[in-house]
Amino acid sequence: ADMDKGTYEHYMLKEVDEQPAVMRRLVQEYTNEKGELVVDEAITSRIQKADRIYIVACGTSWHAGLVGKQLIEKVAEIPVEVHVASEFAYNMPLISKNPFFIFISQSGETADSRQVLVRVNELGYESMTMTNVPGSTLSREANHTMLLHAGPEIAVASTKAYTAQIATLAILAKATGMVKGTAVAKEFNLVKELSLVATGMERLVGEKEHISDLVKANLETTRNAFYIGRGMDYFVSMEAALKLKEISYIQAEGFAAGELKHGTIALIEEGTPVIGIITDEVMGSHTRGNLKEVESRGAATVVVSMEGFEKEGDHIVLPHVHELLTPLVSVVPIQLIAYYASLHRGLDVDKPRNLAKSVTVE
Ligand code: G6P
Repeated sequence: ADMDKGTYEHYMLKEVDEQPAVMRRLVQEYTNEKGELVVDEAITSRIQKADRIYIVACGTSWHAGLVGKQLIEKVAEIPVEVHVASEFAYNMPLISKNPFFIFISQSGETADSRQVLVRVNELGYESMTMTNVPGSTLSREANHTMLLHAGPEIAVASTKAYTAQIATLAILAKATGMVKGTAVAKEFNLVKELSLVATGMERLVGEKEHISDLVKANLETTRNAFYIGRGMDYFVSMEAALKLKEISYIQAEGFAAGELKHGTIALIEEGTPVIGIITDEVMGSHTRGNLKEVESRGAATVVVSMEGFEKEGDHIVLPHVHELLTPLVSVVPIQLIAYYASLHRGLDVDKPRNLAKSVTVE
């Protein structure tokens, strides 16, 4: 039944809509009888001893890894590096004394990631694969597995797997932090926070018409577009640009809001869409300044911001969630922007040109 599009025209839209249910399912799957979030003890006890964690992934999974680094460093207090799998061999990092490797892969079949895992196994390091597919190659070849429980993802553009990856990384960070006894982990009521996220996502997926109109007004004919943000919003900007490129073929870039002025601002012309993501008030005031800079050069700006930080003009308002979990809600309108940009251009949303769901060549 999961493979059925039901009343949906596209798998992508169905998968975007499934995200609140995936959040709830993840909480269920990782909760014990006492109502506490738990992860296989073999994993948490091993990770809490690691002096450094190396996350390795590609594409959207790599973007989830960037958010995961913040979660693990802040909640479990273990240093994390995030690497693009295809670069690992050429820019091999100096490996710490007691490393632990986490491979993030929706399919569990990506050749670039597997190549790194083979090397990691040769070197005798311990690893885990975070994947949506039990029994997949990466799952079998790593020492441990954490499942994403997102259900089959059919559309080439990854949506629910990304949010499932971030939520699973949050669960891992919380469970590891509890084993280590960090103060942040004790205060982080993740069961409650993820349930707020699910409710917030439900509200956002109900704003399809608004988002479709916003795309018509700002992205209908453009050749390029920019997403900007700071902190977590920067990582979501990168994912937002990738989503837009993948299915609408609009050339897009996700930028650290403060870095735009150091070169890329030269590309801003009359009508260039610049979408700012703002989930934090302090960082947001700086990002707003950057939006003003591009507006004065003709850019058409749109703001995606958390409740309370609204502004005039084209705007999407995000429900308030915990500061470490903002990507889980800010990414939803971003997925829908990409969806409508593709749809309005009459493109094949679920099967974009040149792309494959999982890439099994290096
Ligand atoms: C392909 C897909 C991307 C995906 C990447 C990594 O390029 O088109 O959407 O993010 O592979 O896939 P994985 O299954 O390893 O997460």
